[in-house]
Amino acid sequence: MKSFESIVPGRRVALALLLVLSLAPGASAVADPETIAQGKRVYETQCAGCHGEQGNGKGAAADMLIVKPRDFTKGLYKFRSTPNGTLPTDADLYRTITKGVNRTSMPEWSLLPERERHAVVEYVKTFYPQWDERGAGSPITIPNPPATLLAPESVARGRELYEALDCGRCHGPTGLGDGPSAKTLEPDAWGNPQKPFNFTKGALKSGGAPQDVYRTFMTGLNGTAMPSYADVFDEPDGESIKPGDAWNLVSYILSLRQKAPGAVPPAVRPVAATAAEAVPQVKEQAP
Ligand code: HEC
Ligand code: HEC
Repeated sequence: MKSFESIVPGRRVALALLLVLSLAPGASAVADPETIAQGKRVYETQCAGCHGEQGNGKGAAADMLIVKPRDFTKGLYKFRSTPNGTLPTDADLYRTITKGVNRTSMPEWSLLPERERHAVVEYVKTFYPQWDERGAGSPITIPNPPATLLAPESVARGRELYEALDCGRCHGPTGLGDGPSAKTLEPDAWGNPQKPFNFTKGALKSGGAPQDVYRTFMTGLNGTAMPSYADVFDEPDGESIKPGDAWNLVSYILSLRQKAPGAVPPAVRPVAATAAEAVPQVKEQAP
């Protein structure tokens, strides 16, 4: 049996490891009070009108909106590069804020100075008190799309996967968003109606690039019926799922679009410098 002395060095290693882990991505460093204060100022002038002063999604404009602004107090985020059920990374929040959410009133905030965008990310996280304790999930790796993306064989294989995985149950046999389950979906986690996306038209909420589609079905959209398929694609068995199949599914999804793959119809998404500018410009489509 080992003496106490002989395990002490081991404990030191464990301590060092703990230190490293606490600085690893995922465990978010607590922002300094100045950044939080700046984020609060940005939030109260630009975001509270929709998301509410308390971050509960009940801003003055919320009643008028079809797709309701996010309630930040639940720690549930749709648009993430992190596994289902986990919190998004700062980079995910920064991306959503910078690019906005297509087909909804959520403006893109690319005109806000970068520092203010980073500060408001820190402030938004404070609405969910468990954030620092839980930390963000570890982002998935999104490889570069292969040269075969959108090639006819890739689209054909993607179609087989779409059928085998039963995406059509919600999104419909031809991707029109009219699958048999579409009408019976429970309200989302925030109590609002939800509707599977119609792949043939309209911009994807979190972007129409191949990587965006890949990210969406690999991580799912927390709080909605849209599941994560990471467990299906992460370990291809070589039979029902082959290596590279996730990109074949992306090929099929993009092939369903009436316009050029990934094309974003003009003037769907408001660009706003202030919330006051954002609301009257809103041109929403059904959720
Ligand atoms: C005109 C209303 C409006 C304004 C102003 C607005 N938002 Fe939003 N925001 C929305 C709506 C609506 C959604 C929900 C989209 C959805 O659920 O599909 C949303 C979603 C989000 C999300 C995505 C959450 C997720 O689930 O991944 C973030 C983050 C966000 N808003 C941050 C902000 C910040 C920060 C500001 C201010 C700089 C802001 N919003 C201003 C309407 C607004
Ligand atoms: C149980 C129902 C259900 C199933 C099954 C389902 N989805 Fe979805 N999906 C949804 C809902 C609901 C949304 C819309 C969520 C929203 O707009 O907030 C959605 C949205 C999407 C989006 C659009 C995201 C965006 O940025 O706008 C993509 C892409 C997608 N699903 C792909 C798939 C694929 C691929 C499959 C099969 C592998 C699949 N879905 C299976 C319910 C489902």
